[in-house]
Parts: sequence; C-alpha cells; structure tokens
Amino acid sequence: MSKKYQLDGTVIKNEWVTSTYFKMTLSFETLPEIKAGQFAELRIDETPTVFLRRPISIHDVRPENKEMDLLIQKVGDGTAWLSTRKEDDKVNVIFPLGNGFDTDVAENKPVLLVGGGVGIAPLLHLGRVLSSEGRKVHFLLGFRKEADILPLNAYKEVGEVFITTEDGSVGDKGFVTNHSLWKNADYARIFSCGPTPMMKALSTVAREKNIDCEVSLENKMACGVGACLCCVTQTHEGHKCVCTDGPVFNINELPW
Ligand SMILES: Cc1cc2nc3c(=O)[nH]c(=O)nc-3n(C[C@H](O)[C@H](O)[C@H](O)COP(=O)(O)OP(=O)(O)OC[C@H]3O[C@@H](n4cnc5c(N)ncnc54)[C@H](O)[C@@H]3O)c2cc1C
Ligand code: FES
Repeated sequence: MSKKYQLDGTVIKNEWVTSTYFKMTLSFETLPEIKAGQFAELRIDETPTVFLRRPISIHDVRPENKEMDLLIQKVGDGTAWLSTRKEDDKVNVIFPLGNGFDTDVAENKPVLLVGGGVGIAPLLHLGRVLSSEGRKVHFLLGFRKEADILPLNAYKEVGEVFITTEDGSVGDKGFVTNHSLWKNADYARIFSCGPTPMMKALSTVAREKNIDCEVSLENKMACGVGACLCCVTQTHEGHKCVCTDGPVFNINELPW
C-alpha cells in the first residue's frame, strides 16, 4: 500500500470544460508518486451541508511541475464548492488512495481503456502510463449524446479514440459494448471506469472474448481509508472495502 499524504494543493487553474464538468489543476510542494487509478479525498470547506471529504480520481499528473488535474462533474454541494475555487486558493487533499490499475501487462498486444461519463477521468493518466511503457492504447468512450462529449484532445495525444453515443449523434450508436471494434477485438487487457451497468455489460463481453479485464468501482465513500466500511462491495472472497482493497478489481474477483 502506498504512503498517503494530507497536503494543501494550490489551485493553478479551474475551468469549465462543458456546462457541468470542470477541470481543476492543483500544484503541491511535493507531489507523491501516483499510480494510475488512484484517487484523492478532497476536503470541502465553508459549506454547512458537507461534512465528509469527496473522492475524486486523479485525471492527469505532471510530476515535473508537481501538478495534478482533476476532472469533476458538478452534482451537489461538495462539487459545487470545488467549482468555485479560484487561482491561488488552497484545497486540502488526502492522496494517493486506493490500489490503482495493474499496468504490468505481459502480452505484447494493444490495451483497451473503456470509460463512460465521468469514468473517463482516471483513464487519461492510465493511458499515459501504458503508452510511456510502449503499449498501443485504444480508448473506447461512451456518452449519451454529442453535447455530453468531454474534451478529448489529451486522449487523442495518447492513443486512438473510439466513441459511442446512445443516440448515434457521434461515433457508433448505442453503448460501449455495441461498438464495431469488438468484431476484431484482440487486446492484452481491458481497463474500465464508468457506471456499474456499463462495466457489468463490459465484463460479459470481456469473458466472451477471453480478455483479462479490470474495473474501477465508484461506490459511495466516507472516510476513504478503510475505517467506516460504508464503501464495501461483495467479492468472491467476501466483502471488501472499495476505498482500500479497490477501487480497481479484476472482474474475476467480482460476482458479476
Ligand atoms: C473512487 C471514486 C472516484 C471518483 N472520481 C470522480 C471523478 O474523477 N470526478 C467526479 O466528478 N466524480 C468522481 N466520483 C464521484 C464523486 O465522488 C461524487 O460525485 C461526489 O462525491 C459528489 O459530491 P457532492 O457533494 O457534489 O454531491 P452529493 O450531494 O454528495 O451527491 C449529489 C448526487 O450525486 C450522487 N453521488 C454522490 N456520490 C456518488 C458516487 N460516488 N457515485 C455515484 N453517485 C454519487 C448522490 O447520490 C446524489 O444524487 C468518484 C467517486 C469515487 C468513489
Ligand atoms: S470509505 Fe470508509 S471504509 Fe471505505
């Protein structure tokens, strides 16, 4: 388990990238090593309605600048407060938390990174890590409609991007599991983050194609460090904490 830090990050940039998503860049005096798929617990200050930290995936990392990016969807009071942080404000962060994805892939084939909605956030850092190890990266990203598509230039720098929209306005029509790339899918491993129904459907396809598959769960969390047990999930080895044993699990560990 990697060492956890509680640090004040300085907001370098905080910008809306769509009408509901914003990207926050934080810089730190010391940036710990962050595994792809790990997350941070952000303290929400100055609001009487939010007592617990909010878990947010680490979207991108620039160790040379001691900076990390977070891609956040505004859904309630905690994320609303984060969206109002301005340049030079401080945000208190506990990180890096969780196990992260297993990027040690033996087979010399491309890897497929499958994301839905805000679940695409941790896949950018993951794609960078895999690509820096010489691995060919394909992203398969699912959205409801064209207006929901998040900025993808950074993903396109790292790998080839395939898109599905439920209404067919961009890319292939339907869910990620309906994309035409599955016809000839031959991947060393699939990595995924997104809504649970999407990842369950994906695990069925991965099993049919006999491709190893890891998924990152987004169960509701409170403490983030294995103390409150509010994030537990059922596995073949009993209940496990998503915040410490996960958030990444191999689908073979889950009763899906
Ligand atoms: C490991 C992990 C990584 C995450 N990474 C990201 C990320 O990179 N970007 C991002 O925008 N969000 C991410 N989330 C979800 C994020 O933590 C919640 O959206 C956030 O806590 C909501 O806080 P709030 O105070 O704004 O809303 P609240 O008032 O707490 O909730 C508003 C609404 O969102 C729902 N909600 C709250 N938490 C979750 C959750 N975990 N999953 C699904 N629905 C939820 C609530 O049921 C409610 O309907 C992640 C969650 C986990 C567990
Ligand atoms: S969030 Fe408290 S044990 Fe996981």
